[in-house]
Amino acid sequence: MLRLKNILGFLSRSNIKKIFNYINAYKNYYLGIAKVTSYPLRMSFEPTNRCNLSCALCPTGAGFCKRQRGFMDLDNYIGLIDNIGRYLYSITFAGEGEPLLHPDIFQMISYAVSKKIRVYLNTNLNFASGDIIKQIVDSGLFGLSVSCHGLNQNTISYYMKGGDFSLIMKNVKDLVQLKKDKGKKTPYLGLTFVHMKHNHKELLQLPKFALEHGFDYCSVLPVSLNLIHLPYDKQTDYKYIKHLITEWLPPGHKPYQNTSIIFWYNTMYNEFKCKGILSQIEQIMEFPKMPRISKSPSFKCKDLWLEAEVRWDGEVFPCCRYSFFEDIRFGNVFKDDFLTIFNSSLYVRARRPEVFSQQETGLLCRFCPKMPQAEKLFWLSA
Ligand SMILES: C[S@@+](CC[C@H](N)C(=O)[O-])C[C@H]1O[C@@H](n2cnc3c(N)ncnc32)[C@H](O)[C@@H]1O
Ligand code: SF4
Ligand code: SF4
Repeated sequence: MLRLKNILGFLSRSNIKKIFNYINAYKNYYLGIAKVTSYPLRMSFEPTNRCNLSCALCPTGAGFCKRQRGFMDLDNYIGLIDNIGRYLYSITFAGEGEPLLHPDIFQMISYAVSKKIRVYLNTNLNFASGDIIKQIVDSGLFGLSVSCHGLNQNTISYYMKGGDFSLIMKNVKDLVQLKKDKGKKTPYLGLTFVHMKHNHKELLQLPKFALEHGFDYCSVLPVSLNLIHLPYDKQTDYKYIKHLITEWLPPGHKPYQNTSIIFWYNTMYNEFKCKGILSQIEQIMEFPKMPRISKSPSFKCKDLWLEAEVRWDGEVFPCCRYSFFEDIRFGNVFKDDFLTIFNSSLYVRARRPEVFSQQETGLLCRFCPKMPQAEKLFWLSA
């Protein structure tokens, strides 16, 4: 039934151009063609990297992210949608900030919806204005994922500094009621729960809690310590890192089992500055030597062909792992043609199998664990 719904949804958003691009993109992906004439099928946009909260480990919230802060320009966004929106099946508004802070966010959503693009948005939903709920429901948004990393005020505010549990829950309640009043199923409502030490005990109550409050689905994410965002003196302070591991990782989670640590661990150790620290952490945490993540030469990451991310300032990346780094640039879509960026030398190199060889440098792909099991998503209603 869900499958049929998906197929119908896909067809309702298609036209000849989109279908042709869809086939072309998958052909390029399956054949491993590095220089492409296809556009991505899904994209992620960062409307802003500003936020109204200060989550303890978030590079934006904790103030470690040194990128310039700003808002995506509406005209640039519209120009981009006019240009490549005709190939897109879905857009997610997320990034390293709070998308609902963008003054034109509802215009941005509605414009994409008018081009038959399915739109998703991630938010902390900590907004006191009653109007925002009406705008969310009327915008045509398909999915709204609400970050709620605790089931009461204490656990919420332990991580989401400034977070107001009753405000989130009031907004959720109003949203569910308004959808009911309008006879609408959308936006489907998701609860995103980052699994940490202090909220570990709430994990079991999560499905019941989410169902009772009218959520349609839940995503449980393993906590990322975001170590690569830390200032250099903190990155090399292994006592501080041990403290982070002890404070945030859920019981029983060994650092090497945590995908974000694996990513940091491989990246830092192999390519970047902090070679010495690895052995120090190994001694402290007494975890077995990290097995190198080896990928078969036939491994291909779909993100490099089928997806792309655009930051508020127009910088394009294959995935969020790249947007961490200021010195790796693929191109700026507000200045250059998208296909030129999609075929830039970095993109082309990343798509080639040699990316996993020892000689290839400057690309993160070869260290990426790309573990699909990292996120557990479950639907609560049919
Ligand atoms: C950086 S936020 C941006 C969107 C919005 N401000 C929010 O919090 O939902 C993107 C995603 O990262 C998640 N997140 C926040 N802190 C995290 C952490 N330490 N580890 C893993 N995911 C985290 C959020 O729940 C959200 O789903
Ligand atoms: S609400 Fe989102 S962007 Fe804001 S500090 Fe928290 S995780 Fe970061
Ligand atoms: S870093 Fe990982 S997820 Fe990102 S494009 Fe490369 S292989 Fe894919």
